[in-house]
Amino acid sequence: MSRKLLVTNALPYANGDIHLGHLVGYIQADIWVRYQRMRGNQVHYVCADDTHGTPVMLRAEKEGLTPEQLIARVHGEHLRDFTAFGVAFDNYHSTHTSENRFYAEDIYGKLKAGGMIETRAIEQYYDPVKEMFLPDRFIKGECPKCGAPDQYGDNCEACGAAYAPTELKNPYSAVSGAKPVLKTSEHYFFRLSDERAVAFLREWTRGTNAAGQRRLQAEAANKMKEWLGDEGENKLSDWDISRDAPYFGFEIPGAPGKYFYVWLDAPIGYLASFRNLAGKLGDIALEDYTDADRAEAAGTEMVHFIGKDILYFHALFWPAMLKFAGYRTPSQLCVNGFLTVDGAKMSKSRGTFITAHSYITQKLNPEWLRYYFAGKSNGTMEDVDLNLDDMIAKVNSDLVGKYVNIASRCAGFIARRFDGKLAASDTVATMEFEAAHRAGLVAQAYEERDYGRALREIMHLADTANQYVNENKPWELAKQEGQEVRLHQVCSTALTMFRDLTLYLKPVLPALAVEVERFLAIEPMAWPPHWAALPAGHEIRPYQHLMTRIERKQIDALLEANRESLAPAAPTKPGGDAREGEAASSQQRHAEKQQHAAQAAETASPQISIDDFGKVDLRIARIVDARHVEGADKLIRLSLDIGETDDSGAPRTRQVFAGIKSAYDPANLVGRLTVMVANLAPRKMKFGMSEGMVLAASDTDGRTPGLFILSPDAGAQPGMRVK
Ligand code: MSP
Ligand code: ZN
Repeated sequence: MSRKLLVTNALPYANGDIHLGHLVGYIQADIWVRYQRMRGNQVHYVCADDTHGTPVMLRAEKEGLTPEQLIARVHGEHLRDFTAFGVAFDNYHSTHTSENRFYAEDIYGKLKAGGMIETRAIEQYYDPVKEMFLPDRFIKGECPKCGAPDQYGDNCEACGAAYAPTELKNPYSAVSGAKPVLKTSEHYFFRLSDERAVAFLREWTRGTNAAGQRRLQAEAANKMKEWLGDEGENKLSDWDISRDAPYFGFEIPGAPGKYFYVWLDAPIGYLASFRNLAGKLGDIALEDYTDADRAEAAGTEMVHFIGKDILYFHALFWPAMLKFAGYRTPSQLCVNGFLTVDGAKMSKSRGTFITAHSYITQKLNPEWLRYYFAGKSNGTMEDVDLNLDDMIAKVNSDLVGKYVNIASRCAGFIARRFDGKLAASDTVATMEFEAAHRAGLVAQAYEERDYGRALREIMHLADTANQYVNENKPWELAKQEGQEVRLHQVCSTALTMFRDLTLYLKPVLPALAVEVERFLAIEPMAWPPHWAALPAGHEIRPYQHLMTRIERKQIDALLEANRESLAPAAPTKPGGDAREGEAASSQQRHAEKQQHAAQAAETASPQISIDDFGKVDLRIARIVDARHVEGADKLIRLSLDIGETDDSGAPRTRQVFAGIKSAYDPANLVGRLTVMVANLAPRKMKFGMSEGMVLAASDTDGRTPGLFILSPDAGAQPGMRVK
């Protein structure tokens, strides 16, 4: 019977870029989803942006945007990045939506009715200038233990001590710099310490999913033991789920000025995204996935992929909230470890804080990364190291050297010598190859998210296929008299082997698999596979190169690009991407802090490499014509000669609109030499195309008014490169 799965990925915060660290968990989930679908299981795969909370609110303010504007922009960026890496959600929604408000209010209302909500007055630091309560991460001061300055309100990076913000010495607000004052306010709490909740969580921890796998990985189950304590013990505290205005979020019904804490409505966003999808598709029985009783009857599963830093929220608060609101609880948590790059935390100054977008704009193949991450995934919560040289070696030797190489060595002969048509396969070789398949083991490894093991199996099989090609040497058969038939057979057999390998790799390399299906002119491959050899007479399409090797210089350029991304244009944020969660791991805090320090240091004097400078094509230009532009009060239209000619060999000039009317009379410009940027993308302006830019100096402080265009020394000729 096919499984009915609702699969989710953690919702990324709407105040930061997607980076390669994020991608670990998203790629792991996407592979699993693709595998399940290939098996014929029904999967709804959803995600959304996590939009609420203080950091988003302050970040928007800093950028001069409303929170709604900020989250709209980031939503587009996140979806673009996931799509580029083949992470194919069925729906990418947001927590700032009517569906999410609906579920948040419904769940809260039911918890309240069930006696699981309580109010209590608490005393908290308040910023009297900004007039807001301060999350721990927005209060700084000296560590109460070791005296280190500029430590966050919850723990010390220098000595590792954990404390309450009220223990900091000389505290100040990271938002305004003001000295915070203590102020009392009423907060809403979810009664996690209720014995019913504790009993439920103990039982929930022990469960399994529909495939009989444990609901929690071993390390996660151990954490739960630690958090829940021994039988009869109760170590859980109630959870503060409200925040006071000003706050970007949902106001709590019946509690003016009180908002749901971002972490209350964040996981609810899974359901909201799914509800939104159901609304679009129309044929999903929504309650079969959300309602406790109906989910049980329908046998649906809800599987969450998350990073290890947010386990606390997903293993304690979230299942308990759902349970006591009458909702279905999570079937399984799939928790990934954290990414390091070359053995160290991602760092902006080293360029290893690599954004997903930079990887794409640097034209690296996303499936290289998918393959590498898959190879490093073993289904546990262990951290994952992206070793860049190792990635180059793995991709080049496994994917290009072993796998793609099978097709590239055989396909050409089929096209050139046999009209693109296959011969009947070599029966013995095909049977031997099939016997070497261990499809069950590959499937099990995928199911258990031990993709490293799956890939080792697959590469082992690729070795067998290569052995066949190496032993039969089609390139030699091709040169021998009378070996036509054998050549045809060997190449055809190898392509069937290649097809089988592609099927196994398809969850990891979906785009490549589609290319192969096109090249082999076959239907999309599914599980269980139909291993029958590609038949005699089957016509394939011309082979096009499937994957290139990675060069070290491409990786270096990627690191370089990420070092650059610290240009001053990037808005600096107080508290940075500070996460608001209480459970943010100290490791992650450490990474953030490093990141901020690096950012502060490099904003002052952003450096670029000589290669970066070399991208700007500066040329000596002669101003052959200059005119006022009707209707423009700042612009002069220049015609510039930089030694270019058109197709017929006639001199060609560039039209440039320069904002120098306040300082120059066009008549005085004609005939002068100056410097222009010749490779600036042409820009369509109201008055026509502008095909470059001339350089002019000006005093940004306005102390010396005026504009000064540049002139070369005598002797320079139009078209000369300026370096
Ligand atoms: N918004 C919360 C999740 C709410 S889920 C209801 C959040 N967002 S996040 O943007 O910080 O992280 C999104 C996901 O990426 C999380 O699963 C997180 O654990 C994961 N990772 C973030 N940085 C990571 C690494 N450096 N390495 C591996 N995973 C990382 O947490
Ligand atoms: Zn300290």
